[in-house]
Amino acid sequence: MSANGTVRAVVLAAGMGTRMKSSRAKVLHEICGRPMLWYTLRALAAAGVGDTVVVTSTAIDSDVAPLAAAFGARSVIQAHQHGTGDAVRTGLRALPATAGSIVVAYGDMPLVTPEIFTAALAAANADDAVGLALTTARMPLPSGFGRVIRHGNAVAKIVEERDCSPQERAVDEMNAGIYAYDEASLRAVIDDLRDDNAQRELYLTDTIELLIRAGRSVVPVACADYRLVLGVNDRVELAAARAILNRTLCEAHMRGGVTIVDPATTYLEPDLVIGADSVVYPNTSIGGQTTIGAQAVLGPNSRISNAVIGDGVRITESVVLDTRIAAHVRIGPFAHLRQGNVLGADVQIGNFVELKNATLHAGAKANHLTYLGDAEVGEGANIGAGTITCNFDGIRKHRTEIGAGAFIGSNSTLVAPLRVGAGALTGGGAVVIRDVADGERVAGNPAHPLAKKAGV
Ligand code: UD1
Ligand code: CA
Repeated sequence: MSANGTVRAVVLAAGMGTRMKSSRAKVLHEICGRPMLWYTLRALAAAGVGDTVVVTSTAIDSDVAPLAAAFGARSVIQAHQHGTGDAVRTGLRALPATAGSIVVAYGDMPLVTPEIFTAALAAANADDAVGLALTTARMPLPSGFGRVIRHGNAVAKIVEERDCSPQERAVDEMNAGIYAYDEASLRAVIDDLRDDNAQRELYLTDTIELLIRAGRSVVPVACADYRLVLGVNDRVELAAARAILNRTLCEAHMRGGVTIVDPATTYLEPDLVIGADSVVYPNTSIGGQTTIGAQAVLGPNSRISNAVIGDGVRITESVVLDTRIAAHVRIGPFAHLRQGNVLGADVQIGNFVELKNATLHAGAKANHLTYLGDAEVGEGANIGAGTITCNFDGIRKHRTEIGAGAFIGSNSTLVAPLRVGAGALTGGGAVVIRDVADGERVAGNPAHPLAKKAGV
C-alpha cells in the first residue's frame, strides 16, 4: 500500500512469448472469450489494487494499452525484453517511490484469484521486517516453474528450471509468480540483479537472495491449489488453462441451479447470467454479454452470444447473436439469428430461417426456409415457407413491414421498401412489389389484388 492508501501493482506482459509461436502477444491470447491479461487485471482490481502499471513492449502496446485502460491501469514500455527483473525495474520507474507494499504479477496466469493477491499482501503487511511475501505452490513434476529452495524452513532462493541441479529439479515447491514486496526494499536491490544465468536475463527471482543479504525476510505464502497459478507459456498450456477455467465457470452455474448436461462440451465465458432450472445440452457455447432467464432449454449444438433471453425459451441447434428474445420463444433447429433482432413472447422460428435486424411481435411465426432482414412483423402474423424479404436493391437496404395477423403465403418474395397491412394475405409464389392495404389479398408476379369474393 502506498502512503496515500492505494494498493499498487506492476504486471509483466512484455515478454515475446516465443513458445506460443505466434504473431500475437502471448498475454492477448484468449481463454473463455477474454485475453489472458484481462483475468490478471480483473483479479487485481477485485483484490482492491487501485493503481496498476502494465509493462509492455513497443510491438504490443497498441493492443495492451486499451485493455489496461479498461481497468484504469496504464502501460509502460520495456525497451528490450531483458528479463522479468528488468521489466519490474521499468514498471517501478513509472511509479513515484512510496512506502508500503507493492504487488508484482505476471500477465500469463489467467486462473489467478483475488484471494491469492490478498493473501500475499496480508503476509507482506504483517511485519515490518518482511521484504517479500512470495506465493508458492506444490505441483506435480515435471514442471517448467522456478523451484523454491529452502534452508530449513526459510526460503533461500528460487532457481529457474534451466539453471537447476538434478537435486533442485526434484523439488516440487514452485514459484507461482505472485509477489507482494515492501516497495522500498525492492527498489534498494532491483539495480543489483545480474544476468549470469542460462537465459542471460535479469531474473526478478534473484531479488530473493539480494533481499536476504540486505537483512530483509522473505516469507512464503502457500497457495493450496496449484491450478490457480498455472502460467501459460505455449498453446498446450493455453488449452489446459481454458479447460480448467471453463469447468470452474460451469460449476458456478450448476451450483446456481442450472443443469449442464456435459460441462466438457459446454463453452462458457465470464459474467454470464443463467436462470435457475435452465438446461444446457452438449456442444453449446454461450458468450459475450448474455443474460438468460429461468427454465430455458439451450442446445445441443448452439452458439449464443450477446443475447438477452427470457424465461422458458428453447434454442435448438441454432446460432443466436446480438438478439433480444422474450419468454417462451422457440428457435430452431438450424436457425441463424444474425444481429439486431427483437422477438416478442411465444414467437416461433423454425428450421433454415435467417433473421437480421428483424423485429417479430408476440406470437408471430416463421417456421421454415425464410429470410427476414430489416423487417418488422406484427403480432400473430404467419410467414409461409420460403418467404424472402428482398431488402437490398444492390445499393441500399430497405425495410419491410408486415402488419398484425397478416398471412404471407409460401414462397412470397417481398420487395422492399414494402408495407403489407394488418390481416393482409399474399398468395403462394407472390412477388410483391407494391404496398398491400390492411385486409387486402394479393397474388401473382407481380402481385395484384385478388377479386373480392361475392359477399365478402
Ligand atoms: C517465471 C519465473 C518462474 C516462475 C514462473 C511462474 C522468472 C525469472 N521466472 O518464469 O520462477 O515459476 O514465471 O509462471 O521470473 N516478461 C516481461 N519482460 C521480460 C520477460 C518477461 O514483461 O523481459 C513477462 C512475460 O510477458 C510474462 C512474465 O513476464 O508475462 C513471465 O515471463 P516468462 O518468460 O513467462 O517467465 P517463466 O519462464 O514462465
Ligand atoms: Ca510464464
